[in-house]
Amino acid sequence: MRSNLVAGNWKMCGDNASIEKLVANLKALLPAEPAVDIAVFPPSVYIARVVDGLAGSPVAVGAQNVCEQPNDGAYTGEVSAAMLVDTGCRYVIVGHSERRAMYGDSNERVAQKAKQALAQGLMPIICVGETEAQRDDGSTLEVIAEQLQAVFAVLSAEDMCSIVVAYEPVWAIGTGKTATPSQAQEVHAFIRALFAKKDEPLAKGLRILYGGSVKAANAGELFAQADIDGGLVGGASLDAQEFSAICRAAE
Ligand code: PGA
Repeated sequence: MRSNLVAGNWKMCGDNASIEKLVANLKALLPAEPAVDIAVFPPSVYIARVVDGLAGSPVAVGAQNVCEQPNDGAYTGEVSAAMLVDTGCRYVIVGHSERRAMYGDSNERVAQKAKQALAQGLMPIICVGETEAQRDDGSTLEVIAEQLQAVFAVLSAEDMCSIVVAYEPVWAIGTGKTATPSQAQEVHAFIRALFAKKDEPLAKGLRILYGGSVKAANAGELFAQADIDGGLVGGASLDAQEFSAICRAAE
């Protein structure tokens, strides 16, 4: 049975004071033993602080990005998977649409980042999703298949047992426009079917998160869909009350 996962992507938001408050509020509001996996993804410079702050709580910590290079070296500005593990991360987001659109993360590089994460024991959350223009011209499923093809080319069947996929329609991110539960379910079922072509048990165990303007008010109906196994939450994850309500909806 797949356990649901709720992941809070804090993006490039916050400072020492606001993050300290958010961590304290999360500890106060989230149950000590939630029936769902929960993780938060602070900006990298605050990761160590959040790991310390959440010690003893059920909330895991992850990073928003990782370098695709395997070894230490001359990669100015980058952070390796080994460093993230060393700092207390358990997860890492790869291929977020903001990184694909603004920082040149190609399908191939995203797959390499996932590979490096797995090599160090981090669980990658691999994001895929179509733009509004792609949805309008009817190429949504084609785009998703192409993004995942690059992942299939690089990861082994064993690797794929330790990944999470997040379907995030680009037009729904930060816009307040959520995919309807049936629009999301259609793509989630398609993603699971692609994995099933590789390996049926793998596909059954794969967690596929929905992301794009998830909030407490719409989480329940999204998470009730057969192939939606939790959410990747941006804006609403900066509000502890809202985020904990979303976690409850995933239980
Ligand atoms: P949003 O962001 O919830 O603010 O739409 C989701 C994401 O980018 O992961």
